[in-house]
Amino acid sequence: MTFTPYVRPVRAAFVGLGRIYDLNMRAYVDNDDVEVVALVDPDEARRAERQRDWPDAATFATVAELAASGLEVDAIEALLPIPLHVDGVIDLLGHGWHVNLQKPMCNDLASAQRMIDAARANDRVLRVMENYLFYEPLRKLKATVESGDIGEVSGYHLKMVGSGRGGWEVPGSSYEWQFQQARNGRGVLVFDDGWHKLSTALWLFGPIREVRAWIGTTEIVQGIVEIDAPTTILWEHHNGVRGVWDITLAVDMYLRSDYYTNDERWEITGRNGYARVNRCTGRGIQQPSLDVYADGEMRSYHALDDDWASSFRDSGRHWLRWLHTGDGPLLWSGEQAVDVLRFALAAYASSAQGGVGVDPATVDDRDLTGT
Ligand SMILES: NC(=O)c1ccc[n+]([C@@H]2O[C@H](COP(=O)([O-])OP(=O)(O)OC[C@H]3O[C@@H](n4cnc5c(N)ncnc54)[C@H](O)[C@@H]3O)[C@@H](O)[C@H]2O)c1
Repeated sequence: MTFTPYVRPVRAAFVGLGRIYDLNMRAYVDNDDVEVVALVDPDEARRAERQRDWPDAATFATVAELAASGLEVDAIEALLPIPLHVDGVIDLLGHGWHVNLQKPMCNDLASAQRMIDAARANDRVLRVMENYLFYEPLRKLKATVESGDIGEVSGYHLKMVGSGRGGWEVPGSSYEWQFQQARNGRGVLVFDDGWHKLSTALWLFGPIREVRAWIGTTEIVQGIVEIDAPTTILWEHHNGVRGVWDITLAVDMYLRSDYYTNDERWEITGRNGYARVNRCTGRGIQQPSLDVYADGEMRSYHALDDDWASSFRDSGRHWLRWLHTGDGPLLWSGEQAVDVLRFALAAYASSAQGGVGVDPATVDDRDLTGT
């Protein structure tokens, strides 16, 4: 790719102005690296509401109308429903725009390849954003482990409880495409939320050689809504470190949250201590977001920026700065996002075969028929 860094503000357009726009837009506010020139969404009310944030931006109901307008655009913040990611991204790249795409990238490897091929063919950058890698307590967790403060790593544990009460309003239209994803074997907890958890595992300890999984379902609304929990996924990295993630549901539990009602933890155990991130999206455990125990002493971090929304701001700022430098990791590039996809697909393939070990490097779309 022959990427030339920008020496002027990047001209950006938001495509998709739904729920997650509220957090993604924070990277664009008061940022000299960017100028928001267009907003695209078929929903007129959303266009009107979001234009109050960017009075100078032009609005369009479709990408085709934006392209036909002749407005100069450099980069797209793609906030489309997951089922539209593949064709949507290929179309955006085809117009000659760089794309910062929301996760999950797509549902299968063949689609991922089509997206990467489109980026190459158009000589544009495809990034699949991963805001969790910009969440300050997780960054501090990684730095703590790498500093050696808890000794050589013995293993680690992620926990996620999905609760049914609390948090912000999610529009009914978002549930429609999430249920479509679930019917296609890509449930909201293992695949959508899971994309983040599996990303943090790859980011913390590198490539994975084996995944084992037991993916369950719980019927929430009889005959209509099934959620992909209880689920347990285990894995081993190439460096020998093992991780495990358990997902449980607490349907009637109230969880205080400004966003989604996810109660999450990451706990890494070393030879002489442990480090634990106590929460992320929600406000489950009301104590410092990172605790580090070593050699009989507990250190708690009281002043980290542990508002989940800040991770969106910082991920987006990283992208907009990257477009001015071309330096450093994209977190993630399209190719790195495929590693996350492979990890998830290996979990599905393992569960479908009764929990056998699956190497993500060799997993194939054909292993997943019927998942
Ligand atoms: N990083 C995270 O933690 C996180 C959290 C939530 C959602 N997401 C991701 O963000 C994306 C969007 O999710 P959301 O919750 O905002 O969904 P949403 O349903 O609230 O919003 C999607 C928007 O896209 C619009 N849209 C539909 N078709 C379109 C088209 N062809 N062109 C332009 N706009 C179109 C809809 O009208 C809607 O306004 C998904 O990929 C989702 O997985 C990521």
